[in-house]
Amino acid sequence: MERAHNFSAGPALLPQKVVRQAQQDLWSYGDSGIGIAECSHRSAMFDAVIQSAKQRIARLLQLDDDQSILFLQGGARTQFYMWPMNVLGGGTAAYLDTGRWADLAVKDAQRYGEVAVPFSSQQTGWDRVPEAGAVEVPDGSIYLHYTSNNTVAGTEFSHVPESGSAWLACDMSSNFLSRPVDGSRFDFIYAGAQKNVGPSGVTVVVVRKRVFDRIDASLPGMLRYDTLAAKDSMLNTPCTFGIYVIESVCRWIEEDMGGLAGIEAHNIAQSGRVYDLIDGSDFWKGKVEVGSRSRMNITFTTGDDALDTTFHTSAAEAGLSGLKGHRSVGGLRASLYNAQTDASVDALVDFMGHFERTHG
Ligand SMILES: Cc1ncc(COP(=O)(O)O)c(C=O)c1O
Repeated sequence: MERAHNFSAGPALLPQKVVRQAQQDLWSYGDSGIGIAECSHRSAMFDAVIQSAKQRIARLLQLDDDQSILFLQGGARTQFYMWPMNVLGGGTAAYLDTGRWADLAVKDAQRYGEVAVPFSSQQTGWDRVPEAGAVEVPDGSIYLHYTSNNTVAGTEFSHVPESGSAWLACDMSSNFLSRPVDGSRFDFIYAGAQKNVGPSGVTVVVVRKRVFDRIDASLPGMLRYDTLAAKDSMLNTPCTFGIYVIESVCRWIEEDMGGLAGIEAHNIAQSGRVYDLIDGSDFWKGKVEVGSRSRMNITFTTGDDALDTTFHTSAAEAGLSGLKGHRSVGGLRASLYNAQTDASVDALVDFMGHFERTHG
């Protein structure tokens, strides 16, 4: 069967090569005769997969030896509370409020200490991120947390904020491994895999070992980064299939796409085509400030709710799926994560052009 043009915000499209290989590996991984989802997480076969996944992530993000890579469950939202539960201990943390996910992370952090919000774009409908150098982290903050890409509003940081003496923590869920980032600058990174690097059910976490000293020893092992790291993410049974797919996607980024520089060029080119169309039209309107635009989630509208609905429903009928905006903001959204194909971007641009000619 032919595949649809899939613009889903997540779980999202995976690289075709990875999906094809997974079809075979589900049946038998290599010549083992055992499917990749059917082998023990303690087996040599799976150990090779998880170690390779970690090595590839470490290489792509230029991590150093003081950083542990974990594959956890419970989604990115579990990290909203787990990180402050581990390290905040009644202290103060600074959060950049750039929208829905940052906002939810703030609410969870408030359970474990004080939260300062040195930047919020709530007043302007979360249409922007702060400019480089514009944020002042309050003295005494234990960490600065930000969301590098707001999946809902369609904004993205193009810089890494300065955190001063505070630790730097980032929710990279929706632009993970989509552009070069010096991961060694971070004390904590987390990313639900289901947008750029895998299926749902696994969250990549990078945590600096120096934070382990602050962890409250009374927490259960499953909720402590130090115990999870000591057992190499296998204190319980991890999401083995998800980790396998992450390894395959990272292999594809490194070997087929030219690493993060290559994937960034691919993402700039694809998103640029849609933004150029929006900018060259009086019919389509972008929803966020130009300097804060996301390469991953392009949010746009006709300015008329009913017409937006006609657009995404007729697009779905024409085989372009997932263009409806997030339920909290409405409008339209095209997600162009790492695996998005040029053929689907062609189809989107053609369909938008056709829709403008027939409804403009
Ligand atoms: C930036 C961001 N953070 C967190 C989440 C929540 O992720 P999960 O559903 O894995 O908990 C999402 C989901 O879309 C997201 O886009």
